[in-house]
Amino acid sequence: MKRIKAVIKQYPKGFERAALLPLLDMAQRQLGWLPISAMHKVAEILKVPRMRVYEVATFYTMYNRQPMGKYHIQLCTTTPCMLGGVGSDIILETIKKRLGLKEGQTTTTDNKFTLSCVECLGACVNAPMMAINDDYYEDLTPANTMEIIDSIYKTDKLPKPGPRSSRFSCEPINGLTSLTEPPKGPGFGIRPDL
Ligand code: FES
Repeated sequence: MKRIKAVIKQYPKGFERAALLPLLDMAQRQLGWLPISAMHKVAEILKVPRMRVYEVATFYTMYNRQPMGKYHIQLCTTTPCMLGGVGSDIILETIKKRLGLKEGQTTTTDNKFTLSCVECLGACVNAPMMAINDDYYEDLTPANTMEIIDSIYKTDKLPKPGPRSSRFSCEPINGLTSLTEPPKGPGFGIRPDL
C-alpha cells in the first residue's frame, strides 16, 4: 500500500485514475499474473468502475490474464526476427523442444516457463531475439538459446542479458561501415554567402 500511495502521488489531484497502468503492473509482479480479483482491487483503490480496469487489462498484451510460468519467454516472430540470423522459426522449434511443449501448450508442466510468440520488441538489429521476464536475449542461435534455458533450469536465475554474439550492443558485427571519419565541423555544406 505504501508503494501504491507513492505511485498515485505522482499524478495530479483528480487524475489519480491515471495510475491504473502502474498499479496493474504492480499487481502482476506480485502475483505473477493478473487475476480478476486483482483488477477489482485496483478498481477499488482508484475508485473507478471495474469495467475501466477490464478495458485496460484486456487491451494491453503485457497484462497476463492467465497463470504464467515463473519465466515468461516472449519470442519475437515479426519479419526481421523471422528473417534475421537463423530465423525465429528455428528458435521457436528449439525452445518448444527443450521445454517439451506440445502443440497448443504454452506453459511447462512444472510451471517454470511460459512461451509466447510476440510482435516486434524493438531489438530488430539483434535479430532473432527473445525477452525473458524483463530482460532481452539477442543474436540467438539454437545453441545459445539452449544454453540460456539450461542455465535457468540449473540456477533458477536469469543469465546475463544482451547479445549472445561477440557484439556489446547493436553495433555492426564486423566493425563500422559508416560514420567512420570524424564529423565535419559546424557550417559544413552551408552556402558560403550565409
Ligand atoms: S522484429 Fe524482432 S525485435 Fe523487431
